[in-house]
Amino acid sequence: MTQSLTLEQQIDLHITTNGPMSVATYMGLCLTHPSRGYYRAGEPIGRAGDFITAPEISQMFGELIGFWLVNLWQQMGEPKAFTLLELGPGRGTLMADILRVACRAPGFRDALNLRLFETSPPLMAEQKARLDVYDPKWLENFENFEDGPVLVVANEFFDALPIRQFIRKSDGWHERQVGLLDGKRAFGLSPTPIPPQSMPDAVQDAAPDTIFEACLAGGEVMSRLAKIVAVQGGSLLVVDYGYAATQTGETLQGVRRHAYADVLDAPGETDISAHVDFGALANVARQAGLAVQPLATQGQFLTRLGIGERAAALAGANPASAADVRAAHDRLVGDAQMGTLFKVFCAHSPGLQPPGFAA
Ligand SMILES: C[S@@+](CC[C@H](N)C(=O)[O-])C[C@H]1O[C@@H](n2cnc3c(N)ncnc32)[C@H](O)[C@@H]1O
Repeated sequence: MTQSLTLEQQIDLHITTNGPMSVATYMGLCLTHPSRGYYRAGEPIGRAGDFITAPEISQMFGELIGFWLVNLWQQMGEPKAFTLLELGPGRGTLMADILRVACRAPGFRDALNLRLFETSPPLMAEQKARLDVYDPKWLENFENFEDGPVLVVANEFFDALPIRQFIRKSDGWHERQVGLLDGKRAFGLSPTPIPPQSMPDAVQDAAPDTIFEACLAGGEVMSRLAKIVAVQGGSLLVVDYGYAATQTGETLQGVRRHAYADVLDAPGETDISAHVDFGALANVARQAGLAVQPLATQGQFLTRLGIGERAAALAGANPASAADVRAAHDRLVGDAQMGTLFKVFCAHSPGLQPPGFAA
């Protein structure tokens, strides 16, 4: 019976029946509800959607990551078989740009096992159309990897995983919840306090009413993959908006049609995301035995990999598109655009020296 209800009605009915739900439960339902979640039903990426990502801005983004992956594969001794896994591959654009470049390295294509991890059926169809020639397989979990190193790439994936929010009060931390007030969705607090000792050291001295966000799903994904990379060799490259060390403050945001929107409005039609706690991901990766590079900004990373030279070459080869190439370059690396907001995180097997990070 609930199948015929909109997601909004289903969420409100759930709250009326069971009481308020955590922000993580609300975010998870909004984004990945099996039939009506934002990523399950719609086509969110691109000018006609709600937001544009780096690979959709320019081929240069994926091409440079392609060179980066070949560099690591060569550092590992050009293994005859390896897995390349992308988390949340969107329209498949990033992986198509990566592989167009990387498969020029002799032996890379033959050694490649391409794996994709995706929740959205419409986006899976686009990935299949763009990447079929590379014989991709879609993973349902992170088990049963083939032998050989594992290279993982994720652009704007971790920000889409549900976060919990906690607010500091005099008797401890209280989980933030979504409930109904006069029939409208509203934030409230769980009455049960959580002792401060259960929270990370970095937030112990938080002032009253401070918000702390924790992404348990992100930590779990990183933990599982880092353990595999620790055994089989390889790396994890994560590009996203976020911060270098665990901190307080609210970052939960809604975006609809390229503009900020209230996260409580239009569930299933609004993109909801939160900044990534790269400090927490680094701790998880180190616990698994991996080395972690100092976080780079996207601007630093792409510039160190040669985006300036690549932009000049593309503009020189096609003068009619020179202004577009320069605009895309500035958008990807400019401080006022994506260059500083987005960060690049890399965890890898000890001994590798991934390019693009400060020495
Ligand atoms: C913001 S989009 C980024 C897409 C692509 N990486 C890009 O840069 O254009 C987030 C991607 O992660 C996928 N995604 C979100 N939550 C997911 C989940 N829980 N499991 C698997 N994929 C998920 C989305 O369907 C989408 O492909």
